[in-house]
Amino acid sequence: MVSQADNAKGKNASPKKGGRGKGDTRRVAGGMLAAITRGKTLDEARDRLSDLPDSERNLADAMVQMALRHYGEINALTAKHLKRALPLRPHIAHGLLCIGVAQLVYMNVPAHAAIHETVAATGRREQPFRGLINAVLRQIERDIQADGLPKPAPRENLPEWMQARFEAAYGGAALDAMVTQHTRTPPLDLGFKSREKASAFVAAHEGAEPLNDTHVRLNRSGDVRALDGFKEGDWFVQDVAAGYPARLLEAELAAISTPETPASVLDLCAAPGGKTLQLAAAGYAVTALDISANRLARVKENLKRTKLKANLVKADALNWQSPKQFDAVLLDAPCSASGTMRRHPDLVLNRHEGYIAKLAAFQQQLLARATDWVKPGGFLCYAVCSLDPEEGEAQAQAFLETHADFRVVTPQNLPAHLTHDQAFRSTPADHPLAQARYLGDMEKGGMDGFFAQIFQKIGA
Ligand SMILES: C[S@@+](CC[C@H](N)C(=O)[O-])C[C@H]1O[C@@H](n2cnc3c(N)ncnc32)[C@H](O)[C@@H]1O
Repeated sequence: MVSQADNAKGKNASPKKGGRGKGDTRRVAGGMLAAITRGKTLDEARDRLSDLPDSERNLADAMVQMALRHYGEINALTAKHLKRALPLRPHIAHGLLCIGVAQLVYMNVPAHAAIHETVAATGRREQPFRGLINAVLRQIERDIQADGLPKPAPRENLPEWMQARFEAAYGGAALDAMVTQHTRTPPLDLGFKSREKASAFVAAHEGAEPLNDTHVRLNRSGDVRALDGFKEGDWFVQDVAAGYPARLLEAELAAISTPETPASVLDLCAAPGGKTLQLAAAGYAVTALDISANRLARVKENLKRTKLKANLVKADALNWQSPKQFDAVLLDAPCSASGTMRRHPDLVLNRHEGYIAKLAAFQQQLLARATDWVKPGGFLCYAVCSLDPEEGEAQAQAFLETHADFRVVTPQNLPAHLTHDQAFRSTPADHPLAQARYLGDMEKGGMDGFFAQIFQKIGA
């Protein structure tokens, strides 16, 4: 526990200065983290970054991301020094403490800056906790000086129920690899409109790693708009795993689609449009449907930038009346999105186990609805960016058992280690070019967790 003397030091720390300075960077970061612990998404919390000058935004965002990636470890560490956990509301004291620890332990920020600036970021409402935050941060710094950095314990960053479900599905070694990936900033994957554009990009950019014939990995972050080919609309940002459902469909549609009579594809639950872009780039006549007008606006923007075309429909898929049937329907269903948690580290804070069963019931309804819109002989691709088999493998199995008019299609052109029981399954511990699942080499960057399976409607 921290001592009274330590506690007193915080009272002498310099008061928060007005204006837009480093104190504000920590204050904004602490406020963002507090908002996320109260249910906001990281994207929503990012609205607060506009309070900062451009030069400080990246740092504030990096602090929040790091605190989220190590949230369980940080709370376990601070708990050793606190009689009682800091309250999550109505102030941002807990958020600030986490931001302070993230800097000290995971970001290599010099201790004096990490402690002083974080304490200086406390405001009137956090005043009763100012001394305590100062004392805990100083104690952690002393412990680091004496014993080195705390031993990594990445499993602590996932709620126990998630650990249990993923361990049951993939085993302990895989879970360890996945939680390690969760602590790392993921690479940037680009999906190209064509194989030619992808290979030209790789040839012109040292370090660009081709992952397959359309997807390229860059180990960098920052503003993607500054990258070559953005303005020209040559590519869109898409994790390599998210590209496979449309690639699976393309392998089936190649035989029936021609430039004169392109295959018709319904992309259900389409926004923000990654798969719509792939399908449009492949030359199909795409109808992209989503319930959200705001999210459909992003599909429209993406289509405009990439100079691709699709027919956009704003509708609830459960009520929509389609004027026709399609050669293929892609259902990328709303899900827990646990496969994307390394890209959205806020997800682990705001998911609950009971939510999975509710989502699975909704996915089942959407799947049943989607069947009506598939032509006899046509294809249905069911996909989710979830690691949970209840939303993926079990859902697909239940679909087959209840829809005798559909059969499973053996997936074509898939890496063998990503093919399981005739379905595509990836996890953050996989890499598209690896020969086997669960790499020891975590540096390669993994891929999102995805499930996809193709069914064909019997008939015609
Ligand atoms: C997983 S995201 C889709 C991602 C998209 N396929 C892509 O590749 O960019 C799920 C989408 O389902 C949409 N959605 C949720 N409920 C829906 C419903 N009842 N009808 C249509 N769309 C729905 C959400 O608005 C969200 O955009």
